[in-house]
Amino acid sequence: MDFFLDSADVETIENMYATGLVDGVTTNPSLIAKSGQNFFTVLKQISKTVKGPISAEVTATDSKNMIAEGKKLAKVSKNIVVKLPLTQEGLIACQHLTKLKIKTNVTLCFSSTQALIAARSGATYISPFVGRLDDINENGMELIREIKTIYTNYQFKTKILVASVRNIDHVRESALIGADVVTIPPKIFEMLYEHPLTEKGLMDFLNDWKKTKQKIL
Ligand code: G3P
Repeated sequence: MDFFLDSADVETIENMYATGLVDGVTTNPSLIAKSGQNFFTVLKQISKTVKGPISAEVTATDSKNMIAEGKKLAKVSKNIVVKLPLTQEGLIACQHLTKLKIKTNVTLCFSSTQALIAARSGATYISPFVGRLDDINENGMELIREIKTIYTNYQFKTKILVASVRNIDHVRESALIGADVVTIPPKIFEMLYEHPLTEKGLMDFLNDWKKTKQKIL
């Protein structure tokens, strides 16, 4: 399972990329707004560091302008993936950009039938938002299970990119289901390393080592 960072904060992305565990990045208009930076500057900076896919979202709502925006975004770097909303216009744009061999990430997916029509439209990635479904008392991970079954049934090549990740369990369950990618907010990414027994165990080892008065280097 690949790990993408769900962030538009260039410094954070650079720091976390150095862990060797980040395969790509996803951005959205809210994350760009939060960064306070120019969209194109941010994308160019991210693409200097990140060699894997970088999702950049269109903001037009009609297919003609989505396609035009998508083409412009795709020119920023060869690893840009054009993010399109799961609307009728978004999927028309997806079909068009797919024909042009531009990679797409269909976002704001909240049902398995939406995921089905995105795959039928040739999407490279589908982004189901698990956290936002949990927020309204639905089961986000159940949606991932359904999409996995449907995509397996019909051997769709569209990759399942689990988005709106809020906790470690979302990451764990994604891996158990066999999702292709999880896009993880930096805060949750850091938590992947953490376990209270790891921390305690290391402290005990180091304290005992001190008592030996030895050095390795
Ligand atoms: O990038 C899309 C998605 O990950 C957004 O997450 O936390 O705003 O629901 P969130």
